[in-house]
Amino acid sequence: MSDAYWVPEGVDITVPDASRVYDYALGGVHNFAVDREFWHRAEAAFPGAGLVARANRAFLGRAVRWLANAGVRQFLDIGSGIPTLGNVHEVAQEANPDARVMYVDLDPIAVQQSRSLLTGNPYARVIEGDLRKPDSILYHPDVLQLLDFAEPVAVLTVAVLHFVPDEAEPATIVERIGESLVGGSFLVISHLGPAVTPDGRKQQEKARQLYEKTPTPVVIRDAGEIADLVGDQFELIEPGIVSATDWHPDPDEADDPPQPTALVTIARKR
Ligand SMILES: C[S@@+](CC[C@H](N)C(=O)[O-])C[C@H]1O[C@@H](n2cnc3c(N)ncnc32)[C@H](O)[C@@H]1O
Repeated sequence: MSDAYWVPEGVDITVPDASRVYDYALGGVHNFAVDREFWHRAEAAFPGAGLVARANRAFLGRAVRWLANAGVRQFLDIGSGIPTLGNVHEVAQEANPDARVMYVDLDPIAVQQSRSLLTGNPYARVIEGDLRKPDSILYHPDVLQLLDFAEPVAVLTVAVLHFVPDEAEPATIVERIGESLVGGSFLVISHLGPAVTPDGRKQQEKARQLYEKTPTPVVIRDAGEIADLVGDQFELIEPGIVSATDWHPDPDEADDPPQPTALVTIARKR
């Protein structure tokens, strides 16, 4: 139970939740002691985890700006998280004021906070949805009302596919999403990748084990495995699958420490 007025009925705040932990990692306020303690343990196990989270978020902003500048006017952001700085609709609508943004998240708090932020914005909406059931997203009436799948759509899966275990067949999920998109659409992926050094991998494994105690355990995949998720329907755009910090860094980010465990890519539907 919580006294916080913004916690929707039925949300369990006694176990850490991926969206609230990430919110805390980025300096947000929609989290609880259990999330903060979890993050401190994860950072102690894998020092620099905060830099990974920030590198991921910075990539998201650059990717959306890049897509908007490439003329994309529709975004489907799956695993969108609790709103924080540089939300997708803010970046996309700065470039194209009528850009459509559909947010989807598993977490009712992320959905509620997004809904309240989006009040009065006719071109941005949110639904509760599960990436593991792509058809429930792709055929959701709100999604079909906001997005026109006869035109290109950028599907964002940023820091979410690593929450989809192999048993849930992530490649089949991405394939299904790809089938719903016209040529010229885009797929954006950010995914936890393996640390480079043996020591780093040991630290990362400790942090990964912590996530096993949450409702959303983490799967680390390397660049080859991420390429397999992308599949044949999409072609990777330059620079391919790289560290988030290496994906078209802004001039003021050129000296940011590299984050090889945040692997990212943008791919175009053939
Ligand atoms: C680390 S946050 C990333 C937020 C945002 N995409 C970003 O990169 O800044 C991951 C989000 O994915 C959501 N999530 C995890 N598994 C999901 C699933 N199967 N379907 C939809 N959302 C999911 C979590 O609730 C959380 O809000």
